[in-house]
Amino acid sequence: MAVNARKVAIIGCGFVGSSTAFALMQSGLFSEIVMLDADRKKAEGEALDISHGVPFSQPCEIYAGDYDDIADSAIIIVTAGAAQKPGETRLDLIKKNVGIFKSIIPEIAKRNFKGILLIVANPVDVLTYAAKQLSGLPDSHVFGSGTVLDSARLRFNLSEHLGVDPRSVHAFIIGEHGDSEFAAWSSANVSGVEISRFCEMRGFYHDHDQAKANISEEVKNAAYDIISKKRATYYGIAMSAKRICEAIIRDEKSILPVSSIQHGRFGLTDVALSIPVIVGKDGIENEIPFALNDDELKKLRDSAETLKNTIKSCDL
Ligand code: 2OP
Repeated sequence: MAVNARKVAIIGCGFVGSSTAFALMQSGLFSEIVMLDADRKKAEGEALDISHGVPFSQPCEIYAGDYDDIADSAIIIVTAGAAQKPGETRLDLIKKNVGIFKSIIPEIAKRNFKGILLIVANPVDVLTYAAKQLSGLPDSHVFGSGTVLDSARLRFNLSEHLGVDPRSVHAFIIGEHGDSEFAAWSSANVSGVEISRFCEMRGFYHDHDQAKANISEEVKNAAYDIISKKRATYYGIAMSAKRICEAIIRDEKSILPVSSIQHGRFGLTDVALSIPVIVGKDGIENEIPFALNDDELKKLRDSAETLKNTIKSCDL
């Protein structure tokens, strides 16, 4: 089916799905936002509530729909699934959410969907891999929000530490979106200035390694911290999904750490995880020669191993 470049669909209207719809309504990127949920009334309520913000934004039709209404979307965002409870890891959700994906993804595939499938539900890397298997779509058209949010958290925390605009901080969290993720410090910089040198410029001369370790631990534990305080995370991930949609719809060729199916880069295959790639109108358009030191390479391989073991356990 031909793709309507101004249309997006969101499957799952919980906190993450509806916050994403709210962010997209304000973005002006789309003229149609279709919301799907197993609870149709919930989708209708969210669509109506978000529609009432349209007079303050840009024209956009937001409505509850079903699978027949979304087959021509440029992007389908999947947020549906059980959410992480306090004390649960993202990987604990696996069985429930793979089951949910087995009912959702074939419905999309059988309608001859030609757009991009953006997976946001957790554990996002495993579900991205599952979505690829279940959809039969090209790898470039199925990817996950991955560590786009974690990298934003890293940039934010660094920007607070260094007293600089987070947009000037270039740093990535890579690997799993979860417990085995890590910061790729060897390539991190503030507009070309190495992080430790920027620390010195701000008067921090000691324990750079400790400061970096503290910041990356805070990032890794951010979701646990927020969930223990307010039971869920949704605004950060909604902005991350919006950022990915922008890169696709405006054909920005932005470098984003989305979760992508690996084809041998760093020796990795048969797994989806985050390493920065170029994102544009054709989805994942190119890999980049992202540099890792030996320690980072080992961490990346360990992260891939964790994910592969989980994939094996879930009968795909
Ligand atoms: C987050 O990192 C829970 O994956 C979600 O906020």
